[in-house]
Amino acid sequence: MKKLSIFFLFIFLNSYVSYSSDDWGKTGHRATGEIAQKYLSRKAKKEINKLLDGHSIAYVSNFADEIKSDKKYREYNPWHYVNFPFESTYEKHPKSKKGDLIVGINTCVEVLKNQSASKEDKVFHLKMLIHFMGDLHQPLHIGMAEDRGGNDIEVKWFNKGTNLHTVWDSKMIDTFGMTYTEIAANEKELTNEELKTIQKGTVIDWMYDSRELCKNLYKTIEPGKKLRYRYSYDYMNKVLEQLQKGGIRLASLLNEIYS
Ligand code: ADE
Ligand code: ZN
Ligand code: ZN
Repeated sequence: MKKLSIFFLFIFLNSYVSYSSDDWGKTGHRATGEIAQKYLSRKAKKEINKLLDGHSIAYVSNFADEIKSDKKYREYNPWHYVNFPFESTYEKHPKSKKGDLIVGINTCVEVLKNQSASKEDKVFHLKMLIHFMGDLHQPLHIGMAEDRGGNDIEVKWFNKGTNLHTVWDSKMIDTFGMTYTEIAANEKELTNEELKTIQKGTVIDWMYDSRELCKNLYKTIEPGKKLRYRYSYDYMNKVLEQLQKGGIRLASLLNEIYS
């Protein structure tokens, strides 16, 4: 009997814990990594290959999520997102003392540019940067503290309880059903003009681009809403566009670091 209770307690805790977010989800982060790989310069490709011992960008793109449950790495948890009120700006709003996604990305870039940083340090921060550039393009990672980027907005996805954040992290992508390589191989063909527009700007500009999308999501959602195919029809192309922008901009940052 005791064993049975422990078993059910484990099932309950496990489902509770998995209720919290895992960012784009494994497929989303890998798709962004696979797309980035296509836009790398020769020099960047060579340097990254050395640091990742031949593994692909997609292969290491979920590392920052994998270390989350290890206490040793707890200080990095706030680096996955940035929150500020809709009526404010990142610059005006008091910064979190624990850091945020922008601090995370900037720190990784600094370490990678630092000639005297150790290889181990560079490998760690490269893997983190690859992941965070994905997070920067999940619109609800540029959210509001009051609902933890939509984690507290309960909705139904095909009649099963979840939350808005998770719908954007993984539910839509999983329902879409493509592998990360299929998503990358089918990325939208861009004109040179469109490519340049995506590449232009700074990390802060890219954050505000995702923020606009985040704001729009709140216009079509209310707590308890039943989401299914209609929501994917409306937003799956946006998800794919965000994954592509994330990949292209990750490559831009890496090309700049290794220029
Ligand atoms: N926790 C608190 N805010 C969050 C956000 N915007 N995204 C993911 N996790 C969060
Ligand atoms: Zn998330
Ligand atoms: Zn993350």
